[in-house]
Amino acid sequence: MQTLTLVLSFVLGISSITAQPADLSSMKTCKRGTDDYASCMRLAFQENWPTLVKGMPEIDLPPLDPYELDVMATDYQFGEVTGKIVVRNVKTYGMSKTRFLSIRPSYEENRYRLDIDMEIPKMFVEGDFKSDGTVGSFNVIGKGQFNISMEDISGTMTLEGEVINDRWVLDRYNFMPEVGNMKVWASDLFNGNKELTEAALKFANEYWQILYRGMLPHAAKTWNAYMKNLCNRILSHISFSKIFP
Ligand SMILES: *[C@@H]1O[C@H](CO)[C@@H](O)[C@H](O)[C@H]1NC(C)=O
Repeated sequence: MQTLTLVLSFVLGISSITAQPADLSSMKTCKRGTDDYASCMRLAFQENWPTLVKGMPEIDLPPLDPYELDVMATDYQFGEVTGKIVVRNVKTYGMSKTRFLSIRPSYEENRYRLDIDMEIPKMFVEGDFKSDGTVGSFNVIGKGQFNISMEDISGTMTLEGEVINDRWVLDRYNFMPEVGNMKVWASDLFNGNKELTEAALKFANEYWQILYRGMLPHAAKTWNAYMKNLCNRILSHISFSKIFP
């Protein structure tokens, strides 16, 4: 009986802790309608970022550097080559060095929108993958480990949505970054054929810009949908009027 009470009070204790609204009082915020609202927001993002990057379990915000992804699937197509790729156990490093260049906030009635110009000097992504594609009538299967290093990642991230019951609910998330330099590696891209894998990697590293541009529309669609969900889960814990007063 005593054990039961102990277990119960432990469980209830934990749940009452997690049920509390997250304490975001240390976050720098900016007041809407002020003259320097946009520049204040840029500074606020930059100053709050180191805290956010560490993650906040109480608002479902995972650590961002490295950011860990269990699984993601996306289609691709460049000319004759079409297929599907699934990545697993992916770790992404580098987000802590994000620089916020400028922020353009806009709002009317119950809608709120942020356009965030940002750049990340270096990123490194590694994980497992499985690809299944066709080149003409030829079937190509690859699987194993991969890694990608990127430099000078930059772009505008757009967050937009309705404020409902003091919660910001995004109906739009968009980020299609430009990349200054990229290097890819994968253990096997061609049914276990080392020479073809090496040739494909050499090709990919030479023509990465074209490949990236070909891959981006599909990858960004998957990525943006994933990020919208992630952001909405986090935002559902946050009082809009406290964080965006
Ligand atoms: C990617 O992995 C390969 C094989 O393990 C390794 O040789 C290479 O150095 C890695 N790339 C980076 C940038 O660490």
